[in-house]
Amino acid sequence: MLTARIATVKDLPHILTLEKRNGKPTNEDLRVLFKIDNPNEKCKFFVAEEKGRIVGYSRLHLYRWNNSAYIVTVLVDEKKRRKGVGTSLLKLMEDFARKNKARVLMFDTSADNAPAIQLYFKNGFKICGYNDKIYRNGKTAIYLAKELR
Ligand SMILES: CC(C)(COP(=O)(O)OP(=O)(O)OC[C@H]1O[C@@H](n2cnc3c(N)ncnc32)[C@H](O)[C@@H]1OP(=O)(O)O)[C@@H](O)C(=O)NCCC(=O)NCCS
Repeated sequence: MLTARIATVKDLPHILTLEKRNGKPTNEDLRVLFKIDNPNEKCKFFVAEEKGRIVGYSRLHLYRWNNSAYIVTVLVDEKKRRKGVGTSLLKLMEDFARKNKARVLMFDTSADNAPAIQLYFKNGFKICGYNDKIYRNGKTAIYLAKELR
């Protein structure tokens, strides 16, 4: 059975293993993000589990200045894709953003990432902009948003 929940720092080694196994491990220090308590920018990690094994994770930031929520990452284990894991993480983040009274939920991905763009379209997101400077690899970022009110 698939379940999704808010992650704790104990999940971090599994999150990092998932990142490594799926190609492009982050160059950020994720441990720090579990410790920071910043009232202006809150960061939450979420994990999806199947039979006690973490098969996906995601990360959301809540910004106080504009009352918004931003999805930084959604990663599903390559062998577990197209089984609803990404959807369950996205729904959990949306619930969390609503509970925290975010006005809008946003996300960016490269314009050629069809799986991600389709996942967000299917869940009611619409394109709200682009940025061709933000990624180091020179790809264009597409911005997607969903109004929560
Ligand atoms: C994008 C990603 C998170 C999707 O996760 P997932 O668990 O496979 O998604 P779901 O099974 O919930 O799929 C939901 C819907 O998204 C769309 N979708 C997902 N993968 C797709 C693909 N390869 N091609 C087309 N549409 C796709 C479909 O509409 C799908 O619904 P359907 O299966 O009923 O047709 C996953 O492919 C992934 O981890 N990719 C690598 C990391 C990444 O690019 N993350 C996003 C940017 S940070």
